[in-house]
Amino acid sequence: MAKTRSSAVLRVTRTLLFLACLAPLAHLGWRAWNGDLTPNPIEYITHFTGDWTIRLIVATLAVTPLRQLLRVPTFIRYRRMLGLFAFFYGALHFLTWLCVDKFFMWPEIEKDLSKRPFIIAGFTAFACMLPLAATSTAGWIRRLGGKRWQLLHRLIYVTAIAAVTHYYWLVKSDIRLPLLYGALVALELGYRVVAWMRHRGLGRLGGAGSAAMEPRRLPFAGL
Ligand code: HEM
Repeated sequence: MAKTRSSAVLRVTRTLLFLACLAPLAHLGWRAWNGDLTPNPIEYITHFTGDWTIRLIVATLAVTPLRQLLRVPTFIRYRRMLGLFAFFYGALHFLTWLCVDKFFMWPEIEKDLSKRPFIIAGFTAFACMLPLAATSTAGWIRRLGGKRWQLLHRLIYVTAIAAVTHYYWLVKSDIRLPLLYGALVALELGYRVVAWMRHRGLGRLGGAGSAAMEPRRLPFAGL
């Protein structure tokens, strides 16, 4: 009975999260429909999608610390959706730049990709998300094996650092937001480093301490 209830709650909260993640797209569509994308629609869409990509990356990385600190293991059920939506908005952001802003002008694209540091950082962030999105299914976890899958999915850390760098390098004057995202990512990654160091410390003690820390229950297991 309790199990049926908790799976119903999970289904409802996942649906709500799905709708919440779609809301920015709906907002963008609504503004486009009303011809309300500001006098510079390309810039507006680029900034809007970039903002949502970085927010969702930060949210994805927050899942593990929050589920451990608040002791709510079911939070893990939301991580994949958040990560895939981060990828979705990242793809929209990248495609806006590639198809609408640059209009497939390869020499200009090549120049940007080799000479503009903030574009290189953004591209690195997005490129690292590609294998993560491609291997996000249960089938891929099985095919790669849990350990290798987890190792691959640590690319999200590179994505987060490159994304913050991209944002920091592109802003011209007000660096408050890139710094805020930088601080959040630093906290999220710092938490994992501390958890990993504590685990290593406990592992060396051996005996009952290490027996209780079998891989699935490690604080550092997952992302
Ligand atoms: C995970 C990947 C990425 C994230 C998180 C990201 C995030 C952002 C953010 C937060 C902004 C600023 C938004 C604002 O000022 O409100 C931005 C702007 C921008 N991004 Fe990205 N970005 C990513 C990848 C890329 C890629 C792959 C490209 C192109 C190759 C790109 C090109 C741009 C451009 C051209 C701008 C506008 C720059 C300006 O107005 O001066 N981004 N991005």
